[in-house]
Amino acid sequence: MLPLKTWATLALLPLALAQLDKPIMSPAVPFDQMDTNLYDNLKSTPASYSAWDYGYLPARCHDVAESWENLSPYDMEVYNVTYEDCDRPWVMCRHKEADLSLDQMIDNFGRLPVRMRNLVRTQLAFPGRGNGTLLAYTFTDLGDIVYTGDLYPYIRFWIHEVGHIRDAQVNASAGDYSSSTAWLNEYNKDAYICDAYAQTNHAENFAQEVVVAAYDKVVPGGIASLVPNYEDIYNQFSTVEGLMGDELCPGGTCERLFEDDRLVCVGPEAGCASKREYLAAREARLAEREAEAEAVVCSFEH
Ligand SMILES: *[C@@H]1O[C@H](CO)[C@@H](O)[C@H](O)[C@H]1NC(C)=O
Ligand SMILES: *[C@@H]1O[C@H](CO)[C@@H](O)[C@H](O)[C@H]1NC(C)=O
Ligand SMILES: *[C@@H]1O[C@H](CO)[C@@H](O)[C@H](O)[C@H]1NC(C)=O
Repeated sequence: MLPLKTWATLALLPLALAQLDKPIMSPAVPFDQMDTNLYDNLKSTPASYSAWDYGYLPARCHDVAESWENLSPYDMEVYNVTYEDCDRPWVMCRHKEADLSLDQMIDNFGRLPVRMRNLVRTQLAFPGRGNGTLLAYTFTDLGDIVYTGDLYPYIRFWIHEVGHIRDAQVNASAGDYSSSTAWLNEYNKDAYICDAYAQTNHAENFAQEVVVAAYDKVVPGGIASLVPNYEDIYNQFSTVEGLMGDELCPGGTCERLFEDDRLVCVGPEAGCASKREYLAAREARLAEREAEAEAVVCSFEH
């Protein structure tokens, strides 16, 4: 029996994507049973980190704190995190009261295969929104992932968010791969989809299939050992496996997809810009952001 955990999506999606009408396989893929085996088979990667000096933030970190979370950019801490399989650090940005600790962020991200980590630019952590709501959102055009609440025990959720970036970056100028004819052809070969959350829309179904594909590649025995009727979704997850290839497998080294974000002054009180300069820069940036893709928002309630 499935525990009372459901995925839901906020009404913030960029497009009015239609709910999928394909039936859910029976039994559905038990995503809530994946984390133990994923943690057992995705080892942490040794890492070191250094804290940034006070004053500057990645622009995304500043703007998400202020515009999405209604929190003060002054309360953000920024770190370079360098894993032993990559000589270039990843930037992590953490609100001082975030549920996720820096160590937890470093640990979970370092368990993802490095070739999957390549798709990510900046990661941000904030306090939960209350009521135990676990929410993550991803700016898929630039590889930035935001975690709110205690998402530490759910590595499948981290894989799911990277899945949204992969979807957007198969061919960035063509839109999401999950909207392409190539994907829809494979989708249509299967009679079912993997679970209720996948029914949300094609993008969420694709991201769930990325989790299925990762489990299949990483855990001995694969998806067949978790769900006997896996053939019901065979064309979907095997297409993801073909598309992502060794991104799903531990090993290798880094070749990052994105340059690091630009830096902005945390605020006039930090002394790096006058109030007027700070406000002008912020206004210009927020205007530019209108040309960026909206974030894909996923809510994990329990
Ligand atoms: C963080 O890494 C960047 C290069 O990616 C480097 O320029 C910067 O000095 C580093 N900062 C700290 C505090 O390690
Ligand atoms: C918390 O959950 C309860 C019961 O589901 C609901 O009535 C309430 O509005 C929620 N509060 C917030 C802040 O979401
Ligand atoms: C990416 O999409 C664009 C626009 O649809 C298309 O012109 C281009 O050929 C595609 N690139 C690749 C590598 O498929």
